[in-house]
Amino acid sequence: MSRVEVIGPATLYLGDSYEILPTLGDQDAGVFDPPYKFSTSGGGRFRKARPSMDQIAAKGLDQGFDDTIVSPARFRSVAVFCHNDQLAELLPRMAARYHRVVVCSWHKTNPLPVANKHYRPDTEFWIHAWLEGAHPVGTLADKARWILSESGRFSGVAHPTVKPEPVMDKVLATMNAASICDPFMGSGSTGVAAIKRGLGFTGIEVDPAYFDIACGRIAEAVRQAEAG
Ligand SMILES: C[S@@+](CC[C@H](N)C(=O)[O-])C[C@H]1O[C@@H](n2cnc3c(N)ncnc32)[C@H](O)[C@@H]1O
Repeated sequence: MSRVEVIGPATLYLGDSYEILPTLGDQDAGVFDPPYKFSTSGGGRFRKARPSMDQIAAKGLDQGFDDTIVSPARFRSVAVFCHNDQLAELLPRMAARYHRVVVCSWHKTNPLPVANKHYRPDTEFWIHAWLEGAHPVGTLADKARWILSESGRFSGVAHPTVKPEPVMDKVLATMNAASICDPFMGSGSTGVAAIKRGLGFTGIEVDPAYFDIACGRIAEAVRQAEAG
């Protein structure tokens, strides 16, 4: 492990989550936005409109992850983002580990104008799974299975798959936990949402440039929270 930053109620690790997570002990709840497994090829004449696809491929963010890291021995509840193409494989694996499993969705108000031989890229999914007693909490509105939000690509954050804050806030609204762990922290969107909700946060990110962005964003969220 090369670096640990403690920023208010957040502890951020620069390194490989498969190595670091086992050293941290039990975590309340996990929010996973790992590299998706999907094809970044193609795009035809619209490819130029999707420069983020090249960045995603260059960073290996289309290569998937080892889902055994989503362990009920460590996390009582989890939210796991994934690509449409991963649902068929991931759902039975989560159902075998957790008491209940629900598919929730983020519908983009400004999806890219592409489709080729598939549907438009207007919906992303997260699987919310929990052990008995760690069921979803929140208001009736919080418990909607979907959110409408624009894409993160206009957020100004230099990460090709940054999640918008409203999406991460929606995910956290139902998590039955005082502290959230995000082993694929990226630019720190989960951490920002957690700090704004008054939750503790543990984040792990392997890419030093993304780690620095996360540190800056989370420090700013802590500063704002402390300023009231
Ligand atoms: C889909 S992105 C997360 C984006 C994040 N939710 C955000 O809003 O910025 C996945 C992140 O996981 C990181 N990553 C990939 N493998 C990792 C590993 N073994 N340990 C820690 N981080 C990893 C990548 O560098 C990438 O930033």
